[in-house]
Amino acid sequence: MCGIVGYIGSKEAYPILINGLKRLEYRGYDSAGIALLNGDINLYKTKGKVADLEAYVVGKNIKGTIGIGHTRWATHGEPNDVNAHPHFSESKNLAVIHNGIIENYDVIKEKLKNDGVHFRSNTDTEVLIQLIEYIYKHENVDLIKAIQLALGQVIGAYSIVILSKDNPNTIIAARKGSPLVVGIGKDEYFLASDASPIVEHTRDVVYINDEEIAIIRKGEELVLKTIKNQKKTPFIEKLEMDLNALEKEGYDHFMLKEIFEQPRSIRDSIRGRVNLKKDTITMSGIIDFEERFLNARRIIFTAAGTSWHAALVGEYIIEELVKIPVEVEYASEFRYRNPIIDDKDILIAISQSGETADTLAAMRLAKEKGALVYSICNVVGSTIARTSHAGSYTHAGPEIGVASTKAFTSQVTVIFLIALMLAQKKGKISNEKLRKLIIELEKIPSVVEEILQLNDQIKELARIFTYARNFLYLGRGYNFPVALEGALKLKEISYIHAEGYPAAEMKHGPIALIDKKMPVVVIAVDSLIYEKIVSNIQEIKARKGKVIAVVTKGDKTAAALADYVLEIPPTEEILSPLVSVIPLQLLSYHIAVMRDCEIDQPRNLAKSVTVE
Ligand code: G6P
Repeated sequence: MCGIVGYIGSKEAYPILINGLKRLEYRGYDSAGIALLNGDINLYKTKGKVADLEAYVVGKNIKGTIGIGHTRWATHGEPNDVNAHPHFSESKNLAVIHNGIIENYDVIKEKLKNDGVHFRSNTDTEVLIQLIEYIYKHENVDLIKAIQLALGQVIGAYSIVILSKDNPNTIIAARKGSPLVVGIGKDEYFLASDASPIVEHTRDVVYINDEEIAIIRKGEELVLKTIKNQKKTPFIEKLEMDLNALEKEGYDHFMLKEIFEQPRSIRDSIRGRVNLKKDTITMSGIIDFEERFLNARRIIFTAAGTSWHAALVGEYIIEELVKIPVEVEYASEFRYRNPIIDDKDILIAISQSGETADTLAAMRLAKEKGALVYSICNVVGSTIARTSHAGSYTHAGPEIGVASTKAFTSQVTVIFLIALMLAQKKGKISNEKLRKLIIELEKIPSVVEEILQLNDQIKELARIFTYARNFLYLGRGYNFPVALEGALKLKEISYIHAEGYPAAEMKHGPIALIDKKMPVVVIAVDSLIYEKIVSNIQEIKARKGKVIAVVTKGDKTAAALADYVLEIPPTEEILSPLVSVIPLQLLSYHIAVMRDCEIDQPRNLAKSVTVE
């Protein structure tokens, strides 16, 4: 989390940095700050959002063609002005921005304090820049060596960018565990946590690898070294990103735009992978590892948040179609429990951002144990994509709203395609069934379009429940993970407590919560266990709960029992999560809008969780 930007060139840095921070604000918005090198280092920072920083710098000296900027998601030290980045060294000759956590900061801080260094903030970041300055002063080395030595002492994750008064034409950046991209322009360089602030300036980028240092001097070639001082050759890649995708394009919020983009994003996830003439599916990432996939003893999905819900849908889909046993693991649990996994297993990591620290750690662990590690990511070039042996991109386009929407439907689409391909190769599906499922999948984008027409109806429904204190979401089978996802969406953006549950499990606890004030969203679309869901609705009604049912068009039974009904078109049951989730996304969106909540940047959350 935290967004970092940097610029060095001949243009004024401030507007570039501020616009860059706005693009990265999804990564954290507890505080924001910039430092500009113009003889001295002028540093401005404030608690709050990038807009607060803009207001704060009015009338101040923001001149300079070299600068760094930061938007923070607080880890060490409360989110206030002092703990905001950038941080100065004691002499104010160095300034740093940091994304990550320095785990052994307290030991280093104690030592520096004993040696007379004074600290201004409670952050781990200040410890790092003070350590660099201490080494620089006391060990008679140049700044780059001092940075290398300091980084050799710290434990944890970082991506840092440093300005130095003594090195006025230089920016030095380094990374370990947190992402960092350098954009190469004409006589200018851009730095950022991801490519989104860079793409409007240049399409040529270098992704910095772990334990690498980038030394960027005005008018000179980019120099890359390892922390141990080995020279590296920068690998320049071309960015392919549509700039419009980074704008709201007339929608009030990115989240709403992204919900409405789903017909397109699902189509893009399918595009080029399906050949109806030959009845084949091609996921290019699988091809090189086909044998391992076909002989896999087990597939383990690992992920966090919404991506974990997509993984859960994946378990149902893959076991149904491919007949390989599947497990789904929270990455944060998997990585610390010495799991049994070896070269007969395949680990599939799912991540929108491709940067989630726990997911990445789980992948590394599985790799060490010999498993094939596959990734399903949205962000091209992200660390998770690059750490996997192979993978499939979801091609959903940039997702900026912190609450994930289109990423989920694209992830489920990609998993479904992988399952179809493997099922065919393993001879587990007939050509007729495969063809039927492909045809049904291709219809999904237009079904989603139809469901989006429910927007006004859902808005009215949201009005009724704006002041609910609790919500229950129930689903079964393929739609159990959708119930979890619906509840997560509501919690994230409206701050209403919500729980997702397998409908039949309700009897074992949550049913005690039901009274006439309790809204219960039930996904009761056509399925093999439809009758069972109807019984669950009856159980809720018997206790006077308010039922909002998502049903298949033409439904009579569940619809007659429910207090409020949202009708969606019929689909194959296995594909139903792709459509049943849409009304739930809209419901949470409208409830949150009516409660006047910050839709795209809900409190305490961040989109890209690069700390564990
Ligand atoms: C954060 C985001 C969620 C996301 C989760 C996993 O919590 O707010 O929207 O689902 O991280 O992120 P990933 O990028 O790995 O899918």
